[in-house]
Amino acid sequence: MNKLPNQDLSVMKCPRTLEDVDLFSPGAQEHWYDAYPILHAESPVVRLPGEGLFPGSDAYILTKYADIARVVKDWERYPPTLSLFVEQAADVDENDPGALVNAMQISIRTLRPNPEMWRAHRQELTDPWVGPGAVRHTEMITKLVDDLIDKWIDRGEVEFIHEFARPLPQMVMANVLGFPLEDLEQQAKWGNAQVKSFVYGRGHNNKLTQEEMEEQFAILAGFNEYVLDKVKERRKNPKEDMITFLTDVTYSPLDRKLTDMEIVGVVYAMVIGGLETTQYALEEQAQLLCENPDTWDALKADRSKLRHFTEEGMRLRSPTQGLSTRLTSQDEDFQGVTVPKGSLLHLRWAAGNVDPEEWGECPMEIDLNRKGVARHLTFSQGPRVCPGAGISRLEQMIAWQRLFERLDKIEYGDGNTFLHQPGIMLGTFNLHLKFQKAV
Ligand code: HEM
Repeated sequence: MNKLPNQDLSVMKCPRTLEDVDLFSPGAQEHWYDAYPILHAESPVVRLPGEGLFPGSDAYILTKYADIARVVKDWERYPPTLSLFVEQAADVDENDPGALVNAMQISIRTLRPNPEMWRAHRQELTDPWVGPGAVRHTEMITKLVDDLIDKWIDRGEVEFIHEFARPLPQMVMANVLGFPLEDLEQQAKWGNAQVKSFVYGRGHNNKLTQEEMEEQFAILAGFNEYVLDKVKERRKNPKEDMITFLTDVTYSPLDRKLTDMEIVGVVYAMVIGGLETTQYALEEQAQLLCENPDTWDALKADRSKLRHFTEEGMRLRSPTQGLSTRLTSQDEDFQGVTVPKGSLLHLRWAAGNVDPEEWGECPMEIDLNRKGVARHLTFSQGPRVCPGAGISRLEQMIAWQRLFERLDKIEYGDGNTFLHQPGIMLGTFNLHLKFQKAV
């Protein structure tokens, strides 16, 4: 990968040996793709002593594609940490602000406490809007994409993140849910508060201090009230949106309608998952095109490979780099390393996505002819695969279809540092591009 300014600007030096590798300390985000080949070659399973969920237990980073795919496909053998929460949260009072549990966690207790109901939750509540059913939003997304491009198409330059990649998923999710676009700025503030631990949390499990969490929950209390208002409005005045649908649907596993707070929980999940992630995918895809002009030319000449490009983009630059969301229910062996029962697993999706054993000798290169390109781990896999993959893929495809239609060339503009935010998400702060309007 070309050396970019962010690597020199980083407070952490570029890792050369295994001892240098650290995925979580300040500055690590500028060197993740230098660290993964070292880990694959010398330490594909990394023990983090004392960093497990239970006193005296450890956490383990898994970087190999086969190991991560094995774990995510077997809920029983590698139970999600959220299942633990469901058990522990049985007596949490959802009206107690001091409880510091969010609406999504509360709704999981009643709507999807086990794998069967998790599947029903996806099939009945989210798939029609953000899964396979997302195709219904094609016209809305296309209009939003063109409206955004209209704002800067005659300027020859754009700050691609704040003028395109960030507002697009924000406006799409607002329209899907039924939030007025006038409230976009406030919705973005709540979105930031929701993902705070993934950006400013410390270590592999994104730890916030008590004070930071209280501040986060104070902001999110406003979100719950805002959504509750919308729910009440939609009960009186139904519209063609997801909140109206959630007020009306009978949830078959419980054979009843959802409560207001359960709807807030589902909406919370759509917002926490649906904004930044798609933004990061779009901004990294733009960078890959600037760094691979041949790929731009190939796609400009032949759009039929666009899906391959968006999937390769997500494989090579995973918006969510890793999450510590699974436990071992028995002693395990990963790559010859014994991982005891009760250990916490940090699944490093991004590392699995460039694992040469799975992707061949040039895993860091774009290949528009790669076989099975969508088998990457970017959305995870198995029973907990990302429920929003459908709408995110649609947004990315429509965005690039219109951008290739309306631009003849893109390249890096001036003033880029390529510095990324901290945490576990691959988010660039700014991205200045120059372009030629299509003739
Ligand atoms: C490029 C964009 C996206 C990426 C890379 C991404 C990635 C992921 C990953 C890795 C997980 C964890 C799965 C696991 O633990 O096995 C996840 C879960 C989730 N995502 Fe996404 N996601 C994206 C877009 C979206 C969108 C657009 C939405 C909503 C509309 C969404 C909603 C969710 C929700 C609700 C969960 C939690 C589901 C659960 O707990 O099972 N995501 N996502």
